[in-house]
Amino acid sequence: MATATSVALVLLLLAAVSSSLPAADADAGFISQTCNKTKNATLCVALVSLWPGSARASTERDLAGIGLLIAADAASHRAEVISDLANSSQGMPEWGALVVCTRAYLDADKDVELGARQGFDRGDYAGASKLVSRAKGAADGCEKAIKGMARISSVSVINSLMTERCGLAGDLIDLLIRK
Ligand SMILES: *[C@@H]1O[C@H](CO)[C@@H](O)[C@H](O)[C@H]1NC(C)=O
Ligand SMILES: *[C@@H]1O[C@H](CO)[C@@H](O)[C@H](O)[C@H]1NC(C)=O
Ligand SMILES: *[C@@H]1O[C@H](CO)[C@@H](O)[C@H](O)[C@H]1NC(C)=O
Repeated sequence: MATATSVALVLLLLAAVSSSLPAADADAGFISQTCNKTKNATLCVALVSLWPGSARASTERDLAGIGLLIAADAASHRAEVISDLANSSQGMPEWGALVVCTRAYLDADKDVELGARQGFDRGDYAGASKLVSRAKGAADGCEKAIKGMARISSVSVINSLMTERCGLAGDLIDLLIRK
């Protein structure tokens, strides 16, 4: 009973707050509406909503910027994890594959954090999108390199995360190109 009352109160408060904000101001509705235009809306809402500051985003460009940060975060963390794995597997059969993956991820990190970021900031959305999709290719390249290597199958999870996040960033940036 108490819970139902507080839920109702929260909803009332939320309604009051959102009606006092300008229409363009972001809320969960704006995020889901924008995410609905991407290939995987559920994934988009989940990742974007979790990103700090996303509730203050008020334009599609703001959300695309967050998409780019999500992809950059994935690239830099994964590059580090894979490089670490490669360093500790020297002399083992999977070392060569992990070196291929490390190079791919370091390039991807540069593509997203430097190239795509600079393109995005100066309004070159097509250029930014291209670099994000090239970064996504790192995951494919790495996946091919580790094919059949059961001992490093955990790297496949990393590749999926990378594909997912770069795909999301690309979808959101592409919304800006069509305008
Ligand atoms: C998502 O898009 C579809 C079709 O374009 C529409 O029917 C649906 O209502 C939209 N959902 C949201 C949450 O905007
Ligand atoms: C969306 O992404 C999630 C998480 O990766 C995945 O489980 C789901 O199958 C995807 N949905 C579509 C329609 O691709
Ligand atoms: C792996 O080794 C290289 C070369 O020694 C080094 O530059 C790099 O920082 C190492 N990576 C990690 C994650 O420790």
